[in-house]
Amino acid sequence: MIVVSKITKSFGSRLVLDDISFEARPGESLFILGKSGVGKSVLLKLIVGLIASDQGSISVGGQKVDVENPRLLAQVRRKCGLVFQFPALLDSATVFENIAFGLRARGLVEDPNLIEPRVFEQMRTVDLDTSFLNSYPNQLSYVAQKKVSIARTLAVSPDYLLFDEPTTGMDPVATAVLNELLKKLKRELNVTTIVVSHDIKSALACADRLILIDHGKIVFDGEPKNFKSSNVPLAIDFREGVSLGK
Ligand SMILES: Nc1ncnc2c1ncn2[C@@H]1O[C@H](COP(=O)(O)OP(=O)(O)O)[C@@H](O)[C@H]1O
Ligand SMILES: [Mg+2]
Repeated sequence: MIVVSKITKSFGSRLVLDDISFEARPGESLFILGKSGVGKSVLLKLIVGLIASDQGSISVGGQKVDVENPRLLAQVRRKCGLVFQFPALLDSATVFENIAFGLRARGLVEDPNLIEPRVFEQMRTVDLDTSFLNSYPNQLSYVAQKKVSIARTLAVSPDYLLFDEPTTGMDPVATAVLNELLKKLKRELNVTTIVVSHDIKSALACADRLILIDHGKIVFDGEPKNFKSSNVPLAIDFREGVSLGK
């Protein structure tokens, strides 16, 4: 479980997150929605301890996120697989090496012969054809690159998966592919997942629960079916597909 408790975060005089509390429960797929610039990426960075909050606390699997304690922070980070908005692959390394990267870096596989089957397994999980094994990232479509970055994250078996805007900038076909993949990961891995996004369609298709953030506050927290009938103004805007500035 990830527990976010009374988190406040400002940058200079700009209050971004104002007393935010929520939990991601075991096996749950939690979507956090908000307009561009509302603090979604900041929230993910706080969860993995890349930045510190001003007030409040966060725990991941019962462990406090404490940016001042590198040893405990390393343990928290090992539990979390963060998939960045942009694939952030190593351009000069093959798909195989990109996916194997975390396994090697963390020394998770003692026998080098076991790396290949692990990489193959992750490629199957994300529906990436193994013929891409020796390709370089710039030879792949954007959605395939995204799959590589997800496979790389899954390879180290995180307890928690955190996605930053998985479908942003994708065309409808690629978005549908990504949504199906998110649903498949949920079905097959049953891993606790937090997705921050402003893609309401993706959220309604994939989420067990939705949280909506507006002006630093949670303005909705509930199941997709309740979101569909919510009277919260921003929920209505999202449903009606009002232009959200991105
Ligand atoms: N390191 C930083 N320094 C100053 N301001 C920041 C920093 N990171 C984020 N912000 C500000 O915090 C707000 C929320 O950013 P972000 O979480 O990236 O939004 P989004 O919801 O689009 O992911 C923005 O106004 C952004 O400019
Ligand atoms: Mg962001």
